[in-house]
Amino acid sequence: MASEDNVSLYVFPKWVNRLPIFFLLGGGGLFVLIVFVFWYWFSPKHLEVGYMPKQPIPYSHRLHVSELGLDCRYCHTNVETAAHSNVPSSETCLNCHNQIKVDSPHIKKIKQSAVTGVPIQWVKVHKLPDYAYFNHSRHINAGISCVSCHGRVDQMEVVHQAKPLSMSWCLECHRAPEQHLRPKKYVFKLDWKSPNQVEMGRQIKEANSIRPGEDCSTCHR
Ligand code: HEC
Ligand code: HEC
Ligand code: HEC
Ligand code: HEC
Ligand code: HEC
Repeated sequence: MASEDNVSLYVFPKWVNRLPIFFLLGGGGLFVLIVFVFWYWFSPKHLEVGYMPKQPIPYSHRLHVSELGLDCRYCHTNVETAAHSNVPSSETCLNCHNQIKVDSPHIKKIKQSAVTGVPIQWVKVHKLPDYAYFNHSRHINAGISCVSCHGRVDQMEVVHQAKPLSMSWCLECHRAPEQHLRPKKYVFKLDWKSPNQVEMGRQIKEANSIRPGEDCSTCHR
């Protein structure tokens, strides 16, 4: 008659004894994974002010906006109407570059992209995690300028992230939007400054009953 202990000895084959080592190896793998995830997501690439990826074509906002005087909406056509702002197609660039600088290797790349239909692979600079919801048109139409969230893009040779885009940063403005609200006609004028921001901001806030949400469900839905 075998005791219960003996039964279990026979029921489980011998390789079971090696299990702890597998757990250790597995645990080690998990540890590496966690380190990798933290390293990847919390490295400057994704969260930090100053992130400035190399773009496939050296497109300059300073030249096109400050010197040539183009409006943001010439290229970011749906920033007033949609949650996401678009980056322009190659055809938009060719409105001018069909004639201008046609011998430049960069312009040739744009032309080729329009002919083949393969878009230029611009690298995204600003990126919120998927669990956070953001909407451009709501902000633009309330009277928040691009400059409040993207800095002086009109002066940038290469776009970089100018603000933290963290939750506390979002909430700071949602609690006191009068620090940023301006008349709609100045939203796209990044160099414009009000002589009396807070007073003007308060008036706009009252007149249009602007109340940015602070509930979790405003941004996490
Ligand atoms: C002639 C077209 C053009 C105009 C005008 C223009 N942009 Fe852009 N914008 C681009 C292109 C192309 C990119 C993608 C390449 C890059 O990031 O430089 C871009 C990228 C951006 C980005 C970064 C997007 C990301 O990946 O996170 C921001 C922010 C931006 N533009 C803001 C503005 C603002 C603000 C204005 C007006 C002051 C403006 N742009 C005017 C063409 C334009
Ligand atoms: C309103 C007209 C206009 C539009 C639209 C426009 N550009 Fe330009 N672009 C110019 C002018 C003007 C220059 C300066 C040419 C010079 O230096 O003589 C220029 C210069 C450039 C240069 C420098 C070329 C070189 O090799 O010196 C690049 C690159 C460029 N543009 C990319 C773009 C891209 C990408 C777009 C679309 C997102 C775009 N441009 C849209 C007018 C325009
Ligand atoms: C209230 C803050 C805020 C304002 C105002 C704002 N943006 Fe953005 N923008 C963001 C955030 C946050 C992202 C990243 C969105 C994401 O990853 O979902 C972004 C992303 C972008 C992108 C990349 C495409 C996209 O939608 O993800 C472009 C282009 C852009 N913004 C252009 C503009 C322009 C042009 C203006 C002014 C007309 C503007 N933004 C005003 C916060 C803002
Ligand atoms: C500079 C000020 C400012 C910043 C920064 C800002 N917001 Fe807002 N937000 C506003 C204002 C103003 C409104 C409009 C409220 C209204 O119309 O009553 C708004 C509205 C919104 C709405 C729409 C709410 C709804 O009811 O649909 C969302 C979503 C939102 N913000 C998310 C964000 C997120 C996410 C961030 C950070 C990445 C952010 N905001 C950063 C000022 C700001
Ligand atoms: C105005 C928009 C906004 C509101 C309101 C908001 N969040 Fe967030 N939240 C964000 C954004 C944007 C991020 C991403 C931050 C980042 O990438 O650094 C975030 C990130 C988070 C995270 C991830 C951890 C972290 O801190 O990065 C948690 C958890 C979270 N929010 C919980 C909440 C809870 C709970 C509430 C309600 C009390 C809330 N949030 C309200 C915008 C908001």
